[in-house]
Amino acid sequence: MGTQESDERRTAGGGTGRRALLGAAVLGAGGAVLGLPGAARAADARHGGGPGGGLKSLPVPTVIGHRGASGYRPEHTFGSYELALDLGADIVEAGDLVPTRDGHLVCRHEPEIGGTTDVADHPEFADRRRTKVLDGVSTTGWFTEDFTLAELKTLRATERIPANRPHNTLYDGRWEIPTFEEVLRWQNEQTRKRGRQVWIYPELKHPTYFRKLGLGTEERLAKLLRAYGKDRKNSPVIIQSFEPTSIQRMSKLVRNPLAVLLSGAGSRPWDFVETGDPRTTADLVTPRGLKEIASYAQGIGPTLDLVVPKDSAGRLTEPTTLVRDAHRAGLVLHPYTMRNENPFLPAEFRKGGDPDAYGDAFGAFRTYFATGIDGIFTDNPDTGVLAREDFVNG
Ligand code: G3P
Ligand code: CA
Repeated sequence: MGTQESDERRTAGGGTGRRALLGAAVLGAGGAVLGLPGAARAADARHGGGPGGGLKSLPVPTVIGHRGASGYRPEHTFGSYELALDLGADIVEAGDLVPTRDGHLVCRHEPEIGGTTDVADHPEFADRRRTKVLDGVSTTGWFTEDFTLAELKTLRATERIPANRPHNTLYDGRWEIPTFEEVLRWQNEQTRKRGRQVWIYPELKHPTYFRKLGLGTEERLAKLLRAYGKDRKNSPVIIQSFEPTSIQRMSKLVRNPLAVLLSGAGSRPWDFVETGDPRTTADLVTPRGLKEIASYAQGIGPTLDLVVPKDSAGRLTEPTTLVRDAHRAGLVLHPYTMRNENPFLPAEFRKGGDPDAYGDAFGAFRTYFATGIDGIFTDNPDTGVLAREDFVNG
């Protein structure tokens, strides 16, 4: 049975060929860059791009703070989100969305929160520990759907990968779990405070799993976006999911830009497994599959390995045709995830073997940007912004 592969178990790849950025302009302050990727995007910019211009107003390649600035702070906390903005991220992935028992959307990478909170240190919740089958995978721990929001608010966030990010444990216990409604208010506050539009990129996590529990998440997300006036085509909120039918559902509820996440070529979206749709990701990345996605979404978020596969030694091979094919279908590409630490880099960019040491992240960014991608999710937005400056300025 194929399932989506978490990028925790995957690393990134690179490619060849400098991408022409016609009309690219460095704006200067804070290193912000307005990249206009090619004549088409330049034409778009002349026809309503820029501030208020929706997706097309974003710098390209767009730097997306993955779970905030999770290379430096425990993920999906306001500490992480705010640092991502401080470091120059164009968009903050705030957050991965999962529901509570009483129907609130909260920001956690997974419904299981044993690895990202101090829940194990709360004896009052010891009896909530469960083993569940989550998208076909037996998973043991504590699950957001078994807690009320008030209960979750008594927990504090912790670093998920302390072996790779020992310094981040300094911040364990500092921040609580954000709700998505708090994120929407925070977005408004930060936009006012910083004098620039702050974008967010929430992901619907395991929507089929939650719908079967009576906790459908798409309608809850749409209701919140409507309540805050952020459900429009030009709203600074992009919505993503690994389940194509969830994105299709969102396309009927709101007008926001939408992106279908794509895991490894052999994987199969869980909604397809549940509905008996035999297609795998390999089918979705064909020109035909991409054309269908483009009928309800504006972008794709492929794992970097779909852009540049690796060989058996973990070294990059030649880029696939995915960038070209997606652009031909009218889709933007925001692949995931670039991280600075050795274990997450392609083998040729590693420096030594320490799991918490940085490799040549700039080399990896350069290689990926050269494929023509429109943006990238990264745990290290400051590195991404500098890499973009290098790339755009040649
Ligand atoms: O949403 C892009 C990327 O975050 C997808 O993978 O597992 O980190 O949510 P994941
Ligand atoms: Ca995500």
